[in-house]
Amino acid sequence: MSKLIKPHGSDSLNPLYVADDAKRAALEKEAEGLPKLLICSQAAANAVMLASGYFNPLTGYMNLADSLSVAENMKTTSGLFWPVPIVNVVKDASAIKGAERIALLDPNVDGNPVLAIQDVESIEEATDEQMQAMAAKVYGTTDTAHPGVSNFLSVGNIFVAGPIQVLNYSYFATDFPETFRTAVDIRKLIEKNGWSKVVAFQTRNPMHRAHEALVKIAMEREGADGAVIHMLLGKLKEGDIPADVRDASIRKMVELYFQPNSCEITGYGFDMLYAGPREAVLHAVFRQNMGATHLIVGRDHAGVGSYYGPFDAQEIFHKEVPKGALEIKIFEADHTAFSKVVGEVIMMREAPEGHKKEDFVFLSGTKVREMLSAGEDLPPEFARPEVAKILMSYYQSLS
Ligand code: ADX
Repeated sequence: MSKLIKPHGSDSLNPLYVADDAKRAALEKEAEGLPKLLICSQAAANAVMLASGYFNPLTGYMNLADSLSVAENMKTTSGLFWPVPIVNVVKDASAIKGAERIALLDPNVDGNPVLAIQDVESIEEATDEQMQAMAAKVYGTTDTAHPGVSNFLSVGNIFVAGPIQVLNYSYFATDFPETFRTAVDIRKLIEKNGWSKVVAFQTRNPMHRAHEALVKIAMEREGADGAVIHMLLGKLKEGDIPADVRDASIRKMVELYFQPNSCEITGYGFDMLYAGPREAVLHAVFRQNMGATHLIVGRDHAGVGSYYGPFDAQEIFHKEVPKGALEIKIFEADHTAFSKVVGEVIMMREAPEGHKKEDFVFLSGTKVREMLSAGEDLPPEFARPEVAKILMSYYQSLS
């Protein structure tokens, strides 16, 4: 049996989902009598990530001191390396005043069922300056036109901290039964496949030929036994492609264009932060937790608009992540596109001498949307036709 990479911050994974049926039933019963708190979507997604083992070794939501410390220097007050505050913030905590244990209600499921039970260790209010300082550090901007910043600064500034026990995986397990997988599940998959070198691919988009080539190039160069395509299944900004459409298109691409049994298609329950470099580091932490040895970080990883430089998400690993903080390795990919000269998808830094920019086939996201909405085929150098077909029927359904 293969020996897997160790989780971040502990020797074994400690998922916060209560897997024992009797214990879970008892907690569900207890929750009925507890004060209730309706949490925000990001806090609910944090609970699902904690439940899944992805946020190992955290045991719950951070307090204000830890959040400030993580934002400032990617370390909790006790010295654990961690790139993004994992918090439960609300606008109004009056309903849970004085409570030691509370039931957290899921904002994303009809009827707001109980998602988790939390021990309340502290309830603290952050000042505007503290909120702005955290946004500036984590997102690199306080501009509320940034979708992550706008969300962070609008959900509240009262930090409800403490450990949690999670009772379900929200809508992720029910809406995406074939794709949603916990870190525990993925470790088992990797073991079952007997893989030891495993490349993870983060995505919130359908996979075009550049994405496909990135996974194949990374696998080949790293001598990997397999790849785990790991797609975000949570909330996105307007205009991004919904998870079910992405999922269908990725499955088609893998079925037709990957070696059989070389690739697992999976997803995780988290809302996109669009935090560029800091989110890339968080991505690395939770890919290590799921057992991947390598994470692909390419151009404008987890970026939005022009808030980050195209390779800032690679640089942060050299400049700000202390040596030894993570065991997972980063496969740094250059901008990748189809070359009309070479006749295949290549990384630009590897183009032959004399190769010109115009020799690459580029299409912006906006152009892709325009073409598909107008019923125009995407060039086969850019997208596999079978993938383009799935995307086109989605765009046509919108008009
Ligand atoms: S992300 O927000 O999840 O990073 P996306 O799904 O578009 O967005 O990208 C997934 C991964 O592929 C990221 O590592 C990104 O940097 C990389 N990537 C996407 N397109 C390209 C490209 N043309 N060249 C190089 N890397 C790319």
